[in-house]
Amino acid sequence: MDSEDRNQPTKLCFVTVGATASFLSLLLSVLDSKFLEALSQSGYTHLLVQYGKDGQIIYENFLVKYPAGSPGRHGIEIGGFDFNQAGLGEVMRMTKENKSEGRSSGMIISHAGSGSILEALRLSVPLVVVPNPLLKDNHQAELANELQKQGYVVASHHDDISNAVEKAEALRSRMLTWPPVRGPSQRRHRTLNEVLADEMGFSD
Ligand SMILES: *[C@@H]1O[C@H](CO)[C@@H](O)[C@H](O)[C@H]1NC(C)=O
Repeated sequence: MDSEDRNQPTKLCFVTVGATASFLSLLLSVLDSKFLEALSQSGYTHLLVQYGKDGQIIYENFLVKYPAGSPGRHGIEIGGFDFNQAGLGEVMRMTKENKSEGRSSGMIISHAGSGSILEALRLSVPLVVVPNPLLKDNHQAELANELQKQGYVVASHHDDISNAVEKAEALRSRMLTWPPVRGPSQRRHRTLNEVLADEMGFSD
């Protein structure tokens, strides 16, 4: 990841559509000019996509149609991979701020798989959760909405992903004053463990 302007910090958006279940509509949405423009407007420099086992053709078609430097990329450097045997932890950490490495805090956009959500939440960078509408009866939308209601994530439909960029920036601002101060009169927010236990039937 080379940046031409050494003074501009890099800012990475990492997207995982999941390694196995196809979520090609999310992949198409994040390779769309409208989304890339939204990233650029919020100061992003890089987009890295885990496109999964079925996404390679879509990703490669994008690279052919919009070669590096073409206007459709809105100045964003784009990379992708199908899956990472070592897990996504290392890649996700690249979205965290590190001043000595010239990085400001980015964001993660994830399908609503519980493993990826938990991994991303640990990093305290803004997380956008996108349920896969093709997966029925697995509570993905419920989980995403509940986590959003409690203030942990932005829940988004894949069609609306370009609007989620600004919402993620707003979430970042709120996270700087994390955790919320709770007076006796304030409505108590459920903890992350309580939400996950209720929605997914597990706790630690
Ligand atoms: C930031 O990057 C430096 C240099 O690579 C590394 O030594 C340090 O551990 C990183 N800081 C954090 C908080 O990860």
